[in-house]
Amino acid sequence: MSKVAVITGAGSGLGQSTALRLAQEGVRIAVVDVNEKGGNETVEKVKEIGPDALFIQADVSKAEEVKKYVDQTVEHFGTIDYFFNNAGISGSGKYFLETEIDEIDKIVGINLMGALYGVRYVAEVMLKNGGGSIVNTASSAGVIGQDSVVTYSATKHGIVGLTKSMVAEYAKEGLRVNAIAPGPTETPMVKAFYEANPEMKENATAGIPQRRLGTAEEVAELVTFLLTSKAEYINGEVIRIDGGFTNTK
Ligand SMILES: NC(=O)c1ccc[n+]([C@@H]2O[C@H](COP(=O)([O-])OP(=O)(O)OC[C@H]3O[C@@H](n4cnc5c(N)ncnc54)[C@H](O)[C@@H]3O)[C@@H](O)[C@H]2O)c1
Repeated sequence: MSKVAVITGAGSGLGQSTALRLAQEGVRIAVVDVNEKGGNETVEKVKEIGPDALFIQADVSKAEEVKKYVDQTVEHFGTIDYFFNNAGISGSGKYFLETEIDEIDKIVGINLMGALYGVRYVAEVMLKNGGGSIVNTASSAGVIGQDSVVTYSATKHGIVGLTKSMVAEYAKEGLRVNAIAPGPTETPMVKAFYEANPEMKENATAGIPQRRLGTAEEVAELVTFLLTSKAEYINGEVIRIDGGFTNTK
């Protein structure tokens, strides 16, 4: 039987690209997103490639909705083999002392609590069924410090801790947990931002040794490798995919 993946934030960007790449490997996909339009679009595209897909609308910052997407996935597909724990938001870009408490709560709620709840419920299913593979989405801001992203960076460093410590507890039972740390990547969100602020794109690009942004397809390729058995002995790693950006900081 073909494998089953749950992908959060699968209605756009890195989540959608990874859904389509995994579909090429015959993987069936639970498409989780708060955005119905994007989620349904991904389901249609996966089905066009071939495998079955199911859209589940959920806000990952709410534990009960996370439990719901896990339960519905198991009900529909029977199990969970792969989990791309990816939904996230950036922030206003304001300096930390100018940031409202609501914004801090929102970013932590989605990026960190959402990721913790996801692993909490998904790993339970995986361990019951003999193991599985998880990839958490960190960021360059999860491995280095940067201005204008203090809360975001705190959540992404948290993702790194979640990744490493899960391995310490559960690798012996067949769980693999890795993280990716993408640099600026041309997803719809980032494209729109840079179209409105072209000079910021020039600055960002100038700081990347390869002098270009990453693509969602490049990230999808890495996630697919890490999730599947091709990466069977890679565990607790944080893989940077950033054109050399963080290695030159
Ligand atoms: N694009 C980049 O440059 C970049 C770089 C490093 C890390 N990341 C991380 O990659 C992940 C995906 O980002 P992206 O660039 O693909 O962004 P995106 O905005 O294109 O996609 C994110 C998706 O997550 C969904 N989402 C947002 N809040 C949600 C919630 N509460 N519950 C469920 N779904 C929710 C959105 O609806 C959207 O479909 C994020 O965790 C982001 O922090 C992105």
